Amino acid sequence: MILSIESSCDDSSIAITEIGSKKLIFHKRVSQALQHSQYGGVVPELASRLHTEALPKILEETKRYFKEIKAVAVTNEPGLVVTLLEGVTMAKALSISLGVPLIGVNHLKGHIYSTFIEKEAKLPTLVLLLSGGHTQLIEVESWNRFQVVASTLDDSLGESFDKVAKMLGLGYPGGVPIENLAKEGDAMRFDFPVPLSQSPKMAFSYSGLKNSVRLEIEKGDKKNLQFQRDISASFQRVATAHIVQKLKKYLKTSNRFRTLSIVGGVSANRYIFKEISKVAKKFGVEEVISPKMEFTSDNGAMIGRYGIELFQNKVFTPLEDLDVKSRNSL
Ligand code: KG4
Ligand code: ZN
Repeated sequence: MILSIESSCDDSSIAITEIGSKKLIFHKRVSQALQHSQYGGVVPELASRLHTEALPKILEETKRYFKEIKAVAVTNEPGLVVTLLEGVTMAKALSISLGVPLIGVNHLKGHIYSTFIEKEAKLPTLVLLLSGGHTQLIEVESWNRFQVVASTLDDSLGESFDKVAKMLGLGYPGGVPIENLAKEGDAMRFDFPVPLSQSPKMAFSYSGLKNSVRLEIEKGDKKNLQFQRDISASFQRVATAHIVQKLKKYLKTSNRFRTLSIVGGVSANRYIFKEISKVAKKFGVEEVISPKMEFTSDNGAMIGRYGIELFQNKVFTPLEDLDVKSRNSL
């Protein structure tokens, strides 16, 4: 079995996965969303302190499997340095006391493998990684070949949901409340411009849209429920149209991939999943997949799942080399 730890942002999570069968034996995730909500975003020092409380408690529950652990996998990049250190320090201590190797896991590769939890990997696939930290279109050829086709120039899609929610006074994180409000809203009431619609660039950008939304919110009554619904629906429509437009552009010139995986926290959004699926299928993609709902946001199971790929390919990280990094591409 492999024990895996995730602490890159505001979720403390540990999983134990059987290496051969990929079966998830244990998985627990403690979200800190509530504690950060009043600040409208993640406060790194608070997050770090909450990890020191939650991680040992979760680890305690896994003690009965210790004899069967063959390696410890841990997220070491990218993320908040002070929170990554919590998981990495625990992983190092475990590796020493259990006498097993360490595996440093890139968080983004973990998200990419979140659709393969308890399954064999099906590659190649095109991936849309839509999270709080990233917005990327990635060609994934094999366990160690990742090619980023487009990234965001500024904010990520998840971040833009969080910022719009904050402007409306809805707390953090903003994805779920905005999606829910949008269901009852008039998506055509506000005609926000679609980002980079005139640009040939294969890139994403959300800061301009966020500013257009801010100007409308300043003009309106942000306490009014119908106003909140219409802002949410209009914002979500345009934010999605931007992804759809760039994906269409990509698929027009490349039809190599039969599957598209949409991963990361924002993949929980059913409107976005539906709209992207429609265009992908129109342009020849046969299957559009996303992780099970419980694995869309940050979790230890996805770190374990990609950790298994590294274990089976004998990619270990010597204790003295395992360092944390805040930014990292694939
Ligand atoms: O992948 P994730 O858990 O953390 C990062 O690695 O960043 O993604 C968190 C992001 C947050 O910005 C959150 O608002 C967004 O995912 N999110 C959603 C939804 N659920 C979570 N965004 C839109 N619609 C949702 N239903
Ligand atoms: Zn994440």
